[in-house]
Amino acid sequence: MTDFAATKAMFDLPEGVIYLDGNSLGPLPRAASDRVNDMLVKEWGQMLITGWNKAGWMALPTGLGDRIGRLIGAEPGTVVTGDTLSIKVYQAVASALELCPDRKVVLSDSGNFPSDLYIVDGLLRSLGPDYELRVVAPEDVAAHITEDVAVLMLTEVDYRSGRMHDMKALTELAHANGTVTVWDLAHSAGAIPVDLSGCNTDFAVGCTYKYLNGGPGAPAFIYVAPRLADHVRPALSGWLGHEAPFAFDLDYRPGSGIERMRVGTPPIIQMTALSAAMDIWDMADMADVRAKSINLTELFIARVEASCPELELASPRDPNLRGSQVSFRFADGYAAMQALIARGVIGDFRAPDIMRFGFTPLYIDEQDAERAVEILTDIMQNRLWDAPEYKVRQRVT
Ligand SMILES: Cc1ncc(COP(=O)(O)O)c(C=O)c1O
Repeated sequence: MTDFAATKAMFDLPEGVIYLDGNSLGPLPRAASDRVNDMLVKEWGQMLITGWNKAGWMALPTGLGDRIGRLIGAEPGTVVTGDTLSIKVYQAVASALELCPDRKVVLSDSGNFPSDLYIVDGLLRSLGPDYELRVVAPEDVAAHITEDVAVLMLTEVDYRSGRMHDMKALTELAHANGTVTVWDLAHSAGAIPVDLSGCNTDFAVGCTYKYLNGGPGAPAFIYVAPRLADHVRPALSGWLGHEAPFAFDLDYRPGSGIERMRVGTPPIIQMTALSAAMDIWDMADMADVRAKSINLTELFIARVEASCPELELASPRDPNLRGSQVSFRFADGYAAMQALIARGVIGDFRAPDIMRFGFTPLYIDEQDAERAVEILTDIMQNRLWDAPEYKVRQRVT
């Protein structure tokens, strides 16, 4: 059994704060500050450039990839970290398209994170006018997987509502139609059990600053199925994905397997912070995390619905159909969220009217969920959100 009291003690959460936004940016692991400081002072400071070999910096992208892989059902050697998620989406979709040279359509849904759609739109524009990004309603995806679709690109858990797609069923249907799959796990990795290998997924990408707690700007990750990893051709063919980067050949030859999805110099300071976060994940079992997450979200929904009738559930009611977040609709949701934040309950807001609450069992427990509902109830019943200072929109919502 995962010891959640022990994992909670490993985070440096500000006194009096109930943090329900780990689905957006995870909190600071206590060990990260010393770890990063040691890396700066003892490794960068003392080893200088020899740190790439002596401190093992060059192996961090794949080492961290394997540790993330355990949480998402990926075999060792199939995940690598680096770059940002938007870039990894580009890489995965570009490589997936090359596997289907006779098809020109990328299928996605309107619940996808906009950056994924923007990135594919830009990629397709560079490929030529015959290419098409087809965006359908989430519930219509299965019906649109047809034999002209090259790539199915979906985010498994909807960032606004927490609604989950059935990765296994959609991947099977895609394969039956000769379509390659790219899954975005931004709201899945560390939130729900994922079985990339069991689902026979082709490509997956995700970020490490949300549920994995790697810190702001932490690197993304990419998975390529081992059956494809030695065949795919990376569109972002940077020197560190080359078979022999230090041969400095003028021609690009892809490295073996997942190594070819590396692009350029890895962000070692961020990766060091992420490695402190992964130490906590090494103590956790995803089945325990999921069971506790469901308890927390069920409790939160029941209590909020009982005491705040103005809020309308925007997440699936069936816990098996939602990720590890709960969203409520409220016309003045932005102001209500600001009022909550002012009282130490941190969630976030997504336009036009969604209040999001992330439940992260590594450091959130039942008392936190109950206390958050008490504060929310006070705000709603006494209209405490209806104050001018809560209505001024900030740059990041
Ligand atoms: C589902 C999803 N995809 C892509 C992104 C973009 O990630 P990045 O800003 O790291 O490129 C996000 C960011 O939150 C996201 O939630």
